[in-house]
Amino acid sequence: MEKQTTLVFFVNGQKIQENNADPDETLLQYLRNRLHLTGSKLGCGEGGCGSCTVMVSRYDNITDKIFHLSVNACLAPICSLHGMAVTTVEGIGSTKTRLHPVQQQLANAHGTQCGFCTPGIVMSMYTLLRNNPRPTQKEMESYFDGNLCRCTGYRPILQGFKSFIKDACPMGANCCQNKSVCNEVKNCENGLLNGEVNGTCNDNHLLYDPSQEPIFPPELKLNAHIYNTPLKFCNSQSTWFRPTSLNELLELKKLYPSARLIVGNTELGIEKKFKNAEFPVLICTTHIEAMNEVRLDERGLVIGASVTLSRIQEAMQSAVDSLPEWKTRIFAAFLDMLQWFGSHQIRNVAAIGGNIMTASPISDLIPLLMAAGAELYVMSKDNKPRHVKMDHSFLKGYRKTDLNPEAILISVNVPCSNEQEHFYGYKVANRKDDDISIVSAGLDVQFQKGTDVIENISCAYGGMAETTVMALKTMAALVGR
Ligand code: FES
Ligand code: FES
Repeated sequence: MEKQTTLVFFVNGQKIQENNADPDETLLQYLRNRLHLTGSKLGCGEGGCGSCTVMVSRYDNITDKIFHLSVNACLAPICSLHGMAVTTVEGIGSTKTRLHPVQQQLANAHGTQCGFCTPGIVMSMYTLLRNNPRPTQKEMESYFDGNLCRCTGYRPILQGFKSFIKDACPMGANCCQNKSVCNEVKNCENGLLNGEVNGTCNDNHLLYDPSQEPIFPPELKLNAHIYNTPLKFCNSQSTWFRPTSLNELLELKKLYPSARLIVGNTELGIEKKFKNAEFPVLICTTHIEAMNEVRLDERGLVIGASVTLSRIQEAMQSAVDSLPEWKTRIFAAFLDMLQWFGSHQIRNVAAIGGNIMTASPISDLIPLLMAAGAELYVMSKDNKPRHVKMDHSFLKGYRKTDLNPEAILISVNVPCSNEQEHFYGYKVANRKDDDISIVSAGLDVQFQKGTDVIENISCAYGGMAETTVMALKTMAALVGR
């Protein structure tokens, strides 16, 4: 199929057509340098601070739904945005026109000091509200795991946004959130209401009204095929391909065996920026159907290699909610680990395939996958598809796997647990949220039925050697104990 070479996307409702999309350019560079939208800030440039956070929306014509994601613009390649709509802090409100309630509440509560983090904080909260107009306090707090603020201590930020959440106030149904104007100053207990300033409730706190938001660009909705067209963009050093069929992907990988596959750019973007790595050919696998499926079957959860960590969290949570407890102990441990993996912005774009194939010795997930006995489904143009067990022989050295350069990871199967099986994941990091592991571990133990005698045990550790390692001697010594 003919490849399209014009990048089409929307920024704050305005259509952008770019004939010379640069595979090396990030969304943040494009916004700031080309469109002169300087609201989104460049802080760390590596997905760690959230000051560049924007909302990326896309229409899914199969489910007829629009998805909104908070994304680090400093990592998002401009080429990855074809067919999508970007909303920046300039797109939601301004002092020249009218502030959005999220912006106004932050100002009311003195939730901004130097202001550098503020656009990112605003866009994280805005994206949360677009997805869930009345979140809980816990949901709100967890949504800021990728936004750092060096000035405010976070309290006024969270305080300001309490007007948008449903469980902040001990007044319950009498909370002024349920009225258009706050008249309950005297009755409000503990100063928990939003807009609290020096212990008193601000009487003009604002509520969020989803009906006032701009609509998704109809052109992208009506021409949903834009989103599914094969693409090719080049500059003098690199070429970006976005195939839309598995066959096309296999052909490309045969033609360019050293090409790197890309989904969220959370790994390659860092290598490029901080290690001066060069990637002459990049193949974006976000649009390969087989790499995007998530399916629960008898063997466990089959997860396509391009599936993002956020989608894995949703799928595993739904399995935990619907299946017997014993069957989902492995998923429960993954969920526990995933909440400490990067940030919302990172999990929204980073895919499990990248985490496996980059084979980092301090990966959060590889120890869990190895301990669980996960199985990979691998394809290449000239070889039969095959299943590869993620055991002690899968990793061959520092960031090296057992797979040959042409092989493409299509999916990974994470098994369900059995009744005698127990599973745990551990991570030690310098900081609780949004930090890489120092040491990580995945531990799986199965007892002989009705006893406390170990039948099988798998112990995998990250951060101990040049690869994730399995403690084979310990495992052997523990069987029968
Ligand atoms: Fe820090 Fe993007 S600039 S996350
Ligand atoms: Fe200064 Fe948050 S207000 S970094």
